[in-house]
Amino acid sequence: MNRQYYVTTPIYYVNDSPHIGHAYTTVAADILARYNRLKGLDVFFLTGTDEHGQKIERAAKEKGHSPQEHADLYVNNFRELWRTLNISYDAFIRTTDPSHKEIVQAMLQTIKDKGEIEKRTYKGMYCTPCERFWTQKDLINGNCPDCGRPVEEIEESNYFFLMSKYQDRLIRHVQEKEGFILPESRRNEVLGFLLSNPLGDLCISRPKSRLSWGIPLPFDEDYVTYVWFDALANYLSATLYLCPAYRAEQVAGKDKLHSSCWWPATNQLIGKDILTTHAVYWSAMLMAIDLPLPENIFAHGWWTIEGRKMSKSLGNVINPVEVANRFGVDAFRFFLFREVPFGLDGDFSETALIKRINVDLANDLGNLTSRILMMIGKYCNGIIPESDSEDASIKDLCLSLFERVDKHLSCLAFHRALEEIWTLVSSLNKYIDASQPWSLAASSDKRAELQRVLYTSAEALRFVALYLIPFMPESAERILRQLGVETPIADLNLISESKWGRLRHGSSVNKASSLFPRIESKRQQPAPASSDLPSENLVSIEEFAKVQLKVGRVLEAERVPKSDKLLRLKVDTGEVRQIVAGIGKDYSPEDLVQRHIVVVCNLKPAKLMGIESKGMLLAATDKEGRLSIITIDREVSEGARIK
Ligand code: MSP
Repeated sequence: MNRQYYVTTPIYYVNDSPHIGHAYTTVAADILARYNRLKGLDVFFLTGTDEHGQKIERAAKEKGHSPQEHADLYVNNFRELWRTLNISYDAFIRTTDPSHKEIVQAMLQTIKDKGEIEKRTYKGMYCTPCERFWTQKDLINGNCPDCGRPVEEIEESNYFFLMSKYQDRLIRHVQEKEGFILPESRRNEVLGFLLSNPLGDLCISRPKSRLSWGIPLPFDEDYVTYVWFDALANYLSATLYLCPAYRAEQVAGKDKLHSSCWWPATNQLIGKDILTTHAVYWSAMLMAIDLPLPENIFAHGWWTIEGRKMSKSLGNVINPVEVANRFGVDAFRFFLFREVPFGLDGDFSETALIKRINVDLANDLGNLTSRILMMIGKYCNGIIPESDSEDASIKDLCLSLFERVDKHLSCLAFHRALEEIWTLVSSLNKYIDASQPWSLAASSDKRAELQRVLYTSAEALRFVALYLIPFMPESAERILRQLGVETPIADLNLISESKWGRLRHGSSVNKASSLFPRIESKRQQPAPASSDLPSENLVSIEEFAKVQLKVGRVLEAERVPKSDKLLRLKVDTGEVRQIVAGIGKDYSPEDLVQRHIVVVCNLKPAKLMGIESKGMLLAATDKEGRLSIITIDREVSEGARIK
């Protein structure tokens, strides 16, 4: 098995501030890099910035900067964003690095020396924003097929890379090399393109008279290199001057371009719009310098914002720093990869993000963690209990997690890997509900059983945290610390940690603040003026005092059969009582167990679907009819009166 793993992101233009699309690819690469490090592989994770070309020259001019000053300024936005999002890149390449420029020139010279670069006079339709020539038949209604903007006819002498001669080899490679281009639909797109058109040659120069901001051609000083040739070369050049030390024995006797210890890349992640440049241009460039093609190019989909294309003119560009600061870095990372299968387009909205946070993180994972820690605190004095047996079904789920997650991550199905982890989270919540540690704790002869349930739960939670490290590194580390695991996450190895029983008996758990607080919808009604306050149907303080409100702790909860609304609760309000509550559409039983609620205790008993209810819990109803139960925001013992 290959012990090296090399992952790349596109290099981003420094003409503007980063947005959610940039964050998306880079977090994807970060998840893969972290996952492979956790598996014990040598990882090289490369990102960086694309700093030459007309886009940058123009943006700099608008701001009154030189292109280099502009790049030096804007590159910081990317570095800062990667710091905020916890991106663990190993190298950050800038195409203005002197070493990169030298390598691009060496590539050009090698191809020229082979006779595969020719000077020609060319007349074509040029799209300035995209910096690409098109043929007449590429155009759509006379406009650029990529961006839809008008093109200009330009005639000039330029250098051409004889890419056309690689057409058959490219077709064969795409057809034969499984997984070279993913998803499958994108592979078919590239194949269709290669099979249906004669492949043209690639114009790889720009006359300095038209554009001076680029790498000079090594064989003609009146020209600079086409920005895409320069940019694509980064994936190789970074491995020649930015990667961990060379292995001398591998490199000896090889020329610079062929001395990389990291090439070919394992996964090259890109957006669907830049598939042709990668699958065709980049592959042909590599063939021309006799280097292997990357193992995989993965083209992901695009994010729309509340159903609309993201654009500056619509004012809906999502700034990832703002989202991360408001909702949490890990919640944002989680959302991006849980919400949409990698490869498909997705839609971003605050409502969808809040829903994911509240349901998957606050309810499922957050509650699970706090329940387990709280019970170990309460029933075992905060010490991981000893247990000489464990529950087989939970243990088996944990032990099979590696195979299930690994299978999905090896084909970049992030959402499926998360689904597998969440299968364990919900099984664990159900396991706790079913085994009722609170009841076991009440009988002295059930101590061994209690310890088994709590050890099984804590150990399984350790598995959840372990597999979440690549996705949500900070939260995963917090859960592990709370479970008493001291090893820094960078030192953990997935294979050795995926054994049952690594959580040590006798170590202390730490209860910290809630991992993922629920986010309440921000829409609020303005408070009425005091003259609008009700003046009828007022009750006296004595009348109100007749209502006995008490704090209750939910001990058990289950759905009432054949009802989607009713839940049967066993609640400790100083005495244990049964309540039937109509909250089943908004809460599931596992949301409620161990929660502190407010109960009307002296309500006349009633029967709902044949089940007796002694009391009622209090809940607020919003305009859409959604219920929110009233809870207590500090530790208060069961049975406390509310006055
Ligand atoms: N500089 C080139 C890439 C050169 S790689 C050798 C470039 N840069 S970019 O900054 O314009 O875009 C970088 C990436 O952002 C592309 O992969 C593109 O697909 C992605 N996205 C831009 N908008 C996006 C969305 N709305 N959604 C998801 N990704 C999107 O292209």
